[in-house]
Amino acid sequence: MAHEAASSEAPLTASGFRARKGAAPLVCVTAYDAPFARLAEEAGVDGILVGDSLGPNVLGHTRELHVTVDDIVHHAAAVTRAVTAPLVLGDLPFMSYATLDDALHNAARLVRDGGVAAVKLEGGAEVAAITEGLTSRGIPVMAHVGLTPQSVLATGGYVAQGVNLEGAQRVVDGARAQEAAGAFAVVLEAVPARLASVVTERLAIPTIGIGAGPNCDGQIQVLHDLLGLAFRPPPRHAHRYADLAGATRDALTQYRDEVAEGSFPSAEHGFKIRRGVIDRLSFD
Ligand code: KIV
Repeated sequence: MAHEAASSEAPLTASGFRARKGAAPLVCVTAYDAPFARLAEEAGVDGILVGDSLGPNVLGHTRELHVTVDDIVHHAAAVTRAVTAPLVLGDLPFMSYATLDDALHNAARLVRDGGVAAVKLEGGAEVAAITEGLTSRGIPVMAHVGLTPQSVLATGGYVAQGVNLEGAQRVVDGARAQEAAGAFAVVLEAVPARLASVVTERLAIPTIGIGAGPNCDGQIQVLHDLLGLAFRPPPRHAHRYADLAGATRDALTQYRDEVAEGSFPSAEHGFKIRRGVIDRLSFD
């Protein structure tokens, strides 16, 4: 089985991930449960993020802001039970790293109870001290700058970042501050491809793009956008590789129809009882 083959590989560590800078592109995807994590491993991805996109994609929330540490721990545990080879990261959700004490406590929960090998947090220079505090205590951190969904109330929505000088400088400064603080990689979300290229050239750590063009050291996408399971128009940067919503709807409609018309279940789905047992049953 492909999964067993993948599972015999040594797990990719955060330092192994970092060492891939400039080599073959790092391929990352989100996953929130065991079956999809296993399929991502079978497909050969390098990194699986149990992201706070869990909220809108799986938990029925409108935004990432509603996701809690308990949510990430619960789903991360499912993912880490299912895979061996990829680096599994857990998102520190909204306000779970407002202070260093919070960050240490909550990151330790993701590692200890969720089984993740690294955490991701959003922000640049303003949270560099948090990254420094986590990494100096042995918790690898992936940073995330550009469009940061946990800040949408302040930034005014899911809009591209770094398009003017001030915004582009904020992306550069944020990424550099996170690198200096010890982050092993940085996500660049919804920033112009040319900006992402120069940041990628200047940083020693890998850049992982989502809506940041082809010249990053790797890419990450939200699983439900790739598979047509997001139930909303896909973001500009996403490509739908499959229509699992359509396939699932068709399968469930066929199941409903076959039950309704009596063609399912048929004899092949049933079990035989020993001869004579029915005749000797008592309903007294
Ligand atoms: O939560 C998430 O899915 C993310 C990715 C978009 C990078 O943070």
